[in-house]
Amino acid sequence: MAKIAPSILSADFANLEAAIHNLEQNNADWVHVDVMDGIFVPNITIGIPVVGALRKVTDLPLDVHLMIDRPIRYVEDFVKAGADYVTIHVEADQPQNNLEALKKIRALGCKAAISLKPKTPAEVAIPYLELVDMVLIMTVEPGFGGQKFMADMMPKAKQIREWLDDINPECVIEVDGGVDYNTAPLCKENGIEVLVAGSAYFKADDRAKFVKFIQE
Ligand code: DX5
Ligand code: ZN
Repeated sequence: MAKIAPSILSADFANLEAAIHNLEQNNADWVHVDVMDGIFVPNITIGIPVVGALRKVTDLPLDVHLMIDRPIRYVEDFVKAGADYVTIHVEADQPQNNLEALKKIRALGCKAAISLKPKTPAEVAIPYLELVDMVLIMTVEPGFGGQKFMADMMPKAKQIREWLDDINPECVIEVDGGVDYNTAPLCKENGIEVLVAGSAYFKADDRAKFVKFIQE
């Protein structure tokens, strides 16, 4: 049993409302929204007004993945725009600012999460583990959809799960990047609760079937 959060990075940006309703029809659990600033990652996508617009057309949880530098500057805006989860990258600022950003997200009534890039060791997550509702393990370099899944991230996910079981068992683990029919089973075997899928979802011949495959 896992949840699926299709990433609208692979949707038609001229028709996001249709993409969101398609997610609802196919019983997806969450909407994964990739925010990129051209500094933290070499790509630029969408921002606060788009999250606000999506909020108006769906009740699905909005899982907002901030791939932006010094996210503390903007977390409040994303929560106010209607995010249900706000994920910041541990590499995006000094730990003190990141901790403050997470506290801010939670104080505003939103779920807070951290994400780790592939080269970031598990240990970097330790200071944050008691303050988060989710840990996002990147299984590709953040920035683009359609990359190859890095199976060697599974030990990192397992290690973090072990630490969480001791100190914050309610916290869930999410993976993002290269999740498809071939790689999803490995994620589930490793106890990952939420799977992001961009290209695999939008390219699937039968999207409802793909959703079910992840969920069962
Ligand atoms: C990459 C984004 C992902 C991306 C995943 O930086 O964070 O959410 O949309 O795309 P796929 O599933 O195609 O690897
Ligand atoms: Zn993402």
